[in-house]
Order: sequence, then structure tokens, then C-alpha cells
Amino acid sequence: MPFDQASPEIAFRPETVADAAAVEALVARAFGPGRLTRVSERVREFAPFRRELSMCAFADGLLIGSVRMWDVRIGGAPAIFLGPLAVEAAFRNSGAGGRLVAAACAAAEGAGAAAVLLVGDPPYFERFGFSVAEEIVLPGPVDRRRVMLRALSPAGEGLKGVVA
Ligand SMILES: CC(C)(COP(=O)(O)OP(=O)(O)OC[C@H]1O[C@@H](n2cnc3c(N)ncnc32)[C@H](O)[C@@H]1OP(=O)(O)O)[C@@H](O)C(=O)NCCC(=O)NCCS
Repeated sequence: MPFDQASPEIAFRPETVADAAAVEALVARAFGPGRLTRVSERVREFAPFRRELSMCAFADGLLIGSVRMWDVRIGGAPAIFLGPLAVEAAFRNSGAGGRLVAAACAAAEGAGAAAVLLVGDPPYFERFGFSVAEEIVLPGPVDRRRVMLRALSPAGEGLKGVVA
């Protein structure tokens, strides 16, 4: 069933400064204690945060989903890194994750970004237009089969090289 009909009470909007603590708590619950060792966490240590492109989902005023966006360069070309994406367990499988990804990518496109990069499960992210990009090199060890890119403009097609 389309998400809008199944759960019309979920509201989406860009993240604000006031959301930060709730987002961090949600991400900690969704990923568990090992998350700080992830390569994507290392990217987020050096990459400038793009709060206005990052999205939150709310049910009855409570944060139940989040996706964050960061400025990076891929082989020198500007792009956006997406992650973490997290949805509260009780609200999964209703399309909230997909709508967060779609809204964040639309915001990035609206801001003129050429491409969105992430590290994630291809069976999930392929449906949102992401393709495995094994020639993109992230800092630290990463399974290259999980590095995925979605071009938002011709300039973003086939980006490769080191993420910095
Ligand atoms: C991944 C996550 C954000 C998905 O949120 P969601 O709101 O349930 O996503 P959606 O409702 O848009 O999509 C659900 C669909 O994706 C599938 N799916 C979810 N995670 C998947 C994965 N890792 N691989 C393949 N398919 C997956 C579900 O089975 C479901 O399939 P269906 O539509 O055929 O029923 C959520 O499960 C979560 O927070 N997980 C823990 C954190 C995490 O792993 N984040 C992503 C890492 S980059």
C-alpha cells in the first residue's frame, strides 16, 4: 500500500538545530554501539554537515526517522554524502526510510549537488536510484560493494577517486 495512504500521520521536514540530540539518540538506538567504527562515521568527522539538506520524520511530534547529509569531494568533485539513515524500529517498513532518502536527494538536487554518495546495502538503496560505485575510495577499510552513488546531474555521472 502506498505510504501516504498507510501512514498519513508521518510528517517530514528538514533538520533544525533543536533536533540534534533526538537525531543522535535515534541513530545510536538504530545502529548500536559499534557505529563509531564505521567508515561512514569517519567521513562525517571531516565533512561539513548540511543541516538544511538533512531530513527528519515525525509521528505525533516525536522524531521517528532521520537522514543526514554532508559535503564531500569525490576525486576533487563536490558531492553529498548521505548517512546515517535511521527509522525507529516500530515505524519501519512503512516507507518512511524511502521518503527520507527521496526528500534528502531532492533537497540536494535543489541545492545544485551533482551526486549523492553513501555506504549501504545495495538491495535497499538500488530502488532509490543508487548504483554500486566500486571506483570510489573512502577513508579506511570499506566493502566496496556497499559504496553507492546516485548522480543528480550529468556532472555527477561516474564520479570516481578518493573521498575527501
Ligand atoms: C534501513 C532502514 C532505514 C529502512 O527504513 P524503513 O522505513 O523500514 O524503509 P522503507 O519502509 O522505505 O523500506 C522498507 C523495505 O526495505 C527493505 N529493507 C530494509 N532494510 C533493508 C536492507 N538492509 N536490505 C534490503 N532491504 C531492506 C524492507 O524489507 C522493506 O521491503 P519491502 O518494501 O519489500 O517490504 C531501517 O530499517 C533502519 O533504521 N535500520 C537500522 C539502521 C540502518 O541499517 N540504516 C541503513 C544503513 S545505511
